[in-house]
Order: sequence, then C-alpha cells, then structure tokens
Amino acid sequence: MVSIVVTGRGGAGKTTITSNLGVYFAKKSYPTLLIDGDLYLPKLAFHFGIDNPGYNIHTLIRNPNMRVVDVIYHDPRTRVDIIPGSSKLSDVIDIEGRRIRDIVREIQPRYRLTVIDSPVGIPFDTISTFRLAQYQLIIVEIERCPVHSVHRMIENEVIKLKRLGEAYGLQVGVILNKVRESSDRLQDIVDFIEYTVGVPVVGIIPFDHAVPEATNNGTPVLMYAPHTKASRAIKETGEILEGWVLREKRKGFFEKLYAALISFLHRQRVPAGKKL
Ligand SMILES: Nc1ncnc2c1ncn2[C@@H]1O[C@H](COP(=O)(O)OP(=O)(O)O)[C@@H](O)[C@H]1O
Ligand SMILES: [Mg+2]
Repeated sequence: MVSIVVTGRGGAGKTTITSNLGVYFAKKSYPTLLIDGDLYLPKLAFHFGIDNPGYNIHTLIRNPNMRVVDVIYHDPRTRVDIIPGSSKLSDVIDIEGRRIRDIVREIQPRYRLTVIDSPVGIPFDTISTFRLAQYQLIIVEIERCPVHSVHRMIENEVIKLKRLGEAYGLQVGVILNKVRESSDRLQDIVDFIEYTVGVPVVGIIPFDHAVPEATNNGTPVLMYAPHTKASRAIKETGEILEGWVLREKRKGFFEKLYAALISFLHRQRVPAGKKL
C-alpha cells in the first residue's frame, strides 16, 4: 500500500501524468486509485471522459457520513479507479481541504497504489495527505529559455516543494515533462536537479501533440496512442517507479533510470524525419 502526491506548477502536466501512471500501474494489475485533490480546478475526471460526476470528492467532504467507496468510478477500459472532483462552482466554494486526509486514510488500504493529484504550486488542498503518503513526485515543465533562467526556475519550483515533502518525511522525485531540449542541455538540467538540488529525476517525458489530443478524447495517452513518444517515455517512467515506489524489481532501479536517460538522449539524436 503506497501513496504518492503529485505536485508542480500549473500546466506542468500533473493531471496528465497522474492519469497515465494510473493506467500504467492498473495495466500491470496493481489495484490503483487516483484521487482528484485539485479542489478548485478539478480535471482528473475529464482525462477519463467522465463528465459532471454526480458523486465526487466535494460530496464526500461535505457529507462526512458518506462512504468513500460510493464515489469511486471504475474505468473499465483502463481498470483505473477514480475519485473525481465536482465541476460545479457552487460545490467548490468554502470547501475544507483537510478532510481529504480522512478520505485517503479510509480508502488507501484497498489499493496497492493511490495517486493524489494536487492543485498548482504549494499544494494547500492536499497538504493534509502529505502525512499519509510516502512519495512526492514534482512535475517540472522545462521552458525553452537561457540555461541560467532554467536553473533559477527549477530552484524556485523544486526546492520549495522538496523541502515541504521532506518536512513530512516524503521521498521526493522529479519528472521532467514537455521536454524539447537538445541532449546537451537536457543532461545539464538533469545534472543540476540531481546534484545541485539533490532530487532524483525519475522520468523524462517529451512534448508530444498526441497528449492533448488524448486528453480531449477522454482517454489517457498511454491507452489512446501507446506507441507515441510520450507513451513510451511514460512507460519507462512507470518501470522506474515500479522499482522505486513499489520495490518491485528493485535491483534494476538505477540501471533502469540510466537506461531511460540514455534512451531519451538517443531519441534526441535521431535525425529529423527518421522514424523513431
Ligand atoms: N508531454 C506533453 N506533451 C504535450 N502536451 C502535454 C504534455 N503533458 C501535458 N500536456 C498538456 O498540457 C496541458 C496541461 O496539462 P495538465 O496535466 O492539465 O497540467 P496540470 O495538471 O499540471 O495543470 C494539457 O493540455 C495537456 O494535454
Ligand atoms: Mg491539474
């Protein structure tokens, strides 16, 4: 029974990565639950094609006597279980985020893996779950700007969240998303995060147009287009997390991490136009 909180800047890809990791682990037959902890802008349901979920985390927070199992949606295509958020503004007003911890505490023993999606920046809605989780994944969207600005951006985003996670005893990892960097620059960024900031990079996911296309279709990209660049990188990240978080095939963890980096760098070097 393992819980991961996913954090990061708005638009970095938290909800996308939460959904796709859910698909990866459910496909590997790990009972997996995804929880929308973004109480003000919940979007997780949308990634699974669930529109206006009648029962949701907001209903649960407002009705402490309600059972958590009554608001779980099962996606039969991916075998992922989801606790969605309400898309109604009236449900969002004056909501008490601290109750999420009770919800996670009640439901997590039924699952091998629980992944909690967070709101932007400092995750005020989900901070209460930091006491129950064991891992925090920080999603970082790399911008195409001068390298010193990238370093400053990483320091700003990653260091605060890392300190926050460590204050609660969480193990912290970074996933780089929407990556379009050249291999030299990418290596520099990975080195900076791993050696200067001191957090392992557990996934590198390229920018891929298939991702928003899949989201609009209501199907995570790993299921919608499993052979695209992003899906292959998500699978590699899933394998790394399987070793790190679920302690399966643990021996190969560092080898896998290294292999994923090499495979990403290799893809960067394939000449344009050549089939990847
Ligand atoms: N690797 C990627 N390549 C291209 N677009 C992406 C990628 N990851 C996420 N996106 C897109 O970026 C937008 C923001 O993603 P989202 O997961 O909602 O971010 P967050 O939850 O961090 O705010 C969405 O439109 C999504 O489809
Ligand atoms: Mg989101």
